[in-house]
Amino acid sequence: MSFTAHDITPRIGTRIEADKATLLGGEHATHIRELLEQRGVLVFPKIGMDDEEQLAFAATIGDVINQGEKGIYKVTLDTKVTPSAEYLRGTVLWHFDGWADDVPARGSILSGRVLSVTGGQTEFANTYAGYDDLPEEKKAAIEGVQAAHTMASTQRGIFTDASDEMKADWDRYPPKLHPLVWTHRSGRKSLLLGSSTDWVDGMDKDEGRALIDELQTFTTRPELVYRHEWEVGDMVIWDNCGVLHRVQPYPADSGRTMHRVTLEGEEAIA
Ligand code: OGA
Ligand code: MN
Repeated sequence: MSFTAHDITPRIGTRIEADKATLLGGEHATHIRELLEQRGVLVFPKIGMDDEEQLAFAATIGDVINQGEKGIYKVTLDTKVTPSAEYLRGTVLWHFDGWADDVPARGSILSGRVLSVTGGQTEFANTYAGYDDLPEEKKAAIEGVQAAHTMASTQRGIFTDASDEMKADWDRYPPKLHPLVWTHRSGRKSLLLGSSTDWVDGMDKDEGRALIDELQTFTTRPELVYRHEWEVGDMVIWDNCGVLHRVQPYPADSGRTMHRVTLEGEEAIA
């Protein structure tokens, strides 16, 4: 029975050293949930959980979404393993998961199974800190401002020579408006943007684009980012409501495979 938590960087990321039985027993679940919200990303180095254990651990901290095979979604660029893998190419851009949802996933638990020899590091940026650090005038200027999120926006930066069919496919997903600032039930605020953020509602296109880029650059400054260098067996949880994430590019034929369990959303964007 052991459980210790150490900050990895001042503004994001905590490493948890615990044995499997302690984690699966659930006695630290409340503490883990609090740490997740405060620290954005939690790392369990080389914990080596198999699928059943990862699912059981996830169930101690939230409700598991029935995604992939019995709750295990294989994150890979191999379309033979994961038919939706083409969309996963967009994971190299800063994003949060579930841009089309009113209540996006609480978070995801990713475990490293097969790594790429090159690239494949996952990065996380703290969007609570990104909001907190803004000058007061900027906070006032973006309060109540909404932005449109689109599938096309998540994909067009990747598929720069997309065919008309691909573009038509992206456009089947209706745009979704969200505030640029998420005011959480806790009273804390975070920035809500990423690769899905296409334009700012009611603002000139270029002006809106410049604002989105400015805020995204601000919330992904190096001091707000933790980069995870994977070892096989590592497990990482991120707070999908308070961090952006992206993966460093890796070859599609690298075999890189991460097993992901996603936690049901708990809070509507407001
Ligand atoms: C995801 C994701 C990043 C990675 O699974 O939602 O963005 O490192 N993954 O594979
Ligand atoms: Mn993602």
